[in-house]
Amino acid sequence: MAKPLLCPPDVLNKDLTGQVAIVTGANSGIGFVTAQQLAAQGAQVVLACRRVAEGEARVAEIKAKHKDARLEVRALDLGDLSSVRAFAKDFLADHDALHLLINNAGVMNTPQGKTKDGFETQIGVNHLGHFLLTALLTDVLKKSAPSRVVVLSSCYHDKAMGREGEIVLDDLHFAHRKYDGWTAYAQAKLANLLHAQELAKRLEGTGVTVASVHPGWVRTNLSRHTGPTWLQNTVLRPVFAMFGMIEPWEGAQTTLYAALGDDVTAHSGAYYSQIGLYRDKSKNRGGWPLESPNPHAHDDKMAAALWDKSCELVGLSTPAAQPAAA
Ligand SMILES: NC(=O)c1ccc[n+]([C@@H]2O[C@H](COP(=O)([O-])OP(=O)(O)OC[C@H]3O[C@@H](n4cnc5c(N)ncnc54)[C@H](OP(=O)(O)O)[C@@H]3O)[C@@H](O)[C@H]2O)c1
Repeated sequence: MAKPLLCPPDVLNKDLTGQVAIVTGANSGIGFVTAQQLAAQGAQVVLACRRVAEGEARVAEIKAKHKDARLEVRALDLGDLSSVRAFAKDFLADHDALHLLINNAGVMNTPQGKTKDGFETQIGVNHLGHFLLTALLTDVLKKSAPSRVVVLSSCYHDKAMGREGEIVLDDLHFAHRKYDGWTAYAQAKLANLLHAQELAKRLEGTGVTVASVHPGWVRTNLSRHTGPTWLQNTVLRPVFAMFGMIEPWEGAQTTLYAALGDDVTAHSGAYYSQIGLYRDKSKNRGGWPLESPNPHAHDDKMAAALWDKSCELVGLSTPAAQPAAA
């Protein structure tokens, strides 16, 4: 089994004093470790969590290790656009800078369901909620440049349990096709990757760098809709580890590299991958950056069409509210 890619020490020793970061889904898994590391390096970190009490508990854990850590928990439910708007409004009322936006939160292989706004759960939470959040924070990211947006995608944007990642633009929400949790996850994670690519294009020349990430197969709570996480954390842990499952600290490495690595600015819009499972096995060792083997990940027309569709769905109809292409 290949060894996970790890950040070089200079990346993890970078002084982030004066930097402001938002990490969505920071109360658990990869997001928690990411928030902890950014805070340990001196950044002021906003933990954007749908369960605020869980976020507060994580803040206490971080503070026990890093007593000077600058942390705040704010409520954000990505499955509810009114919550996304309220989060952005409150953040902007209290902060006039944002250097790192880490769109980390996610759900996988959920039973068929809808967000508050009627979107299929996985495209709604993983992509559309983050799409609106990013749009509402784009001006402050530009103002704070150099700044970065890191979007958590997955190697499952390529193939998720045999289902090929593809955007079905006229049926994003599975109204006219049979719902399948893995097909929906693959679609949502491809949407994450295309969002990063298109955003990078639209932000060219602004000093805002964008990256998408596959963090590896990481021992977190993400698999809760697929099987009991207690099994993964106990008896199955050594078996899964033999087959490539990594720990959250290793799982946060690709995000941290995309957020802090010096050469990332030269590849805005690129995809960074930890060890993964791809249709082209030569890609399985990962790469920072890595060219996706999914042809749909290189479909510029689809990326632009998804952008327009996403604007329409989240109610960004006025050009002023969108990150400007011009
Ligand atoms: N773990 C892996 O093997 C793996 C592989 C590839 C990609 N990823 C990606 O990595 C990212 C982080 O996942 P993880 O593995 O760390 O999983 P995790 O431990 O389940 O963490 C996911 C986080 O997202 C939050 N979240 C879920 N729905 C939300 C909503 N509606 N609004 C706001 N936050 C919400 C969760 O909050 P609650 O605690 O309240 O549920 C949790 O904080 C995801 O985008 C995932 O797709 C993970």
